[in-house]
Amino acid sequence: MNKSKIIKIVILISAVIVITIQFIQVDRTNPKVESELKAPKEVLTILKRACYDCHSNETKWPWYSKIAPISWLVFRDVDKGREYLNFSKWDGLTKEGQNYSKNSIIEQISKDRMPLWIYKIGHSDAKLSKSDKDILIKWATMKN
Ligand code: HEC
Repeated sequence: MNKSKIIKIVILISAVIVITIQFIQVDRTNPKVESELKAPKEVLTILKRACYDCHSNETKWPWYSKIAPISWLVFRDVDKGREYLNFSKWDGLTKEGQNYSKNSIIEQISKDRMPLWIYKIGHSDAKLSKSDKDILIKWATMKN
């Protein structure tokens, strides 16, 4: 077999794989908002911009979240993100739970771990400025 034939076969097999995996779809429905976080408007604006896609039930699913295998990665982040911290269930947390989450938010933000780096590639507006961080940290420092 010559080289160009091998290349054609590889392309064909890849195409078949890419098409086949499109049938493995993820569940992109948003569960109901249960008990939304109440916070000052400036805090909510930043959280909605930078965190809500993964940490709430109000995820805005981007077009590429429909294309496997990217869809699987997006789904994993949203699913895991909601499990760790879900602002749509915030008011249902105990005071201790809220304080714990606030400490965790301070830690994640000050170490630049959140929002996830991969998310910032497609969402440049999610980057937190120094003043965004100050506003969030000030809010999260006030405990119940
Ligand atoms: C692209 C999805 C995504 C975005 C956007 C995002 N997170 Fe996360 N977050 C995750 C995932 C996934 C986890 C689970 C832990 C991990 O995989 O690192 C997580 C975990 C956390 C945790 C818990 C950490 C722990 O170890 O207990 C906090 C707190 C958090 N995120 C805060 C935020 C804040 C605040 C923002 C916005 C500034 C944000 N996240 C934006 C996906 C995201």
